[in-house]
Amino acid sequence: MSRLFLLLIPLLLFIIAFFSQKKRYIQQSEIRHSNSYHIHTTINPSCAPCVEKYIENVINYGSNIFHYPTSPMPAGTVSPQEAKKIAAFLATLQGFTPSHPEWVEEGKYLFYGNCTGCHSNEGKGKKGYFPDLTRKPLRGMELLNKG
Ligand code: HEC
Repeated sequence: MSRLFLLLIPLLLFIIAFFSQKKRYIQQSEIRHSNSYHIHTTINPSCAPCVEKYIENVINYGSNIFHYPTSPMPAGTVSPQEAKKIAAFLATLQGFTPSHPEWVEEGKYLFYGNCTGCHSNEGKGKKGYFPDLTRKPLRGMELLNKG
């Protein structure tokens, strides 16, 4: 009887190991699911907070939708709080009243200090290298919406 018990221990360990692997697999597939949800979310191009959020995400996490031959948009060149302010300024370039109009002045200053090297002073960029940030809707947003 006690020998049978000894045999049961490795079996039990095997079962535990099997289920913990399975749990890890489930967690991974949830993460993958949330990523694809992020990619396939449609962004309403006529809603100021949605456009600001898109811009904020591009600044914080970078972007490589266009696959330009030069470089992708680098992530995190400014702090997340600064990104919100720049997004407020960029929303005005598309004719929106941003959710925090009081951030526009500082956002403009931050944009000139951090972004115009690539996107040019008026934010118009350079065809084939840096996207035009005054285009309405932003082309990257349009591409994301298409899926
Ligand atoms: C090193 C050059 C570079 C710098 C600096 C840079 N960008 Fe970009 N940016 C790019 C490139 C390249 C893309 C296109 C990325 C892609 O392929 O998705 C881009 C894309 C974007 C987009 C998306 C445009 C669209 O049509 O969807 C926004 C918004 C943006 N940048 C804002 C900024 C802001 C704000 C800053 C400053 C904090 C900044 N960028 C700094 C190169 C740069």
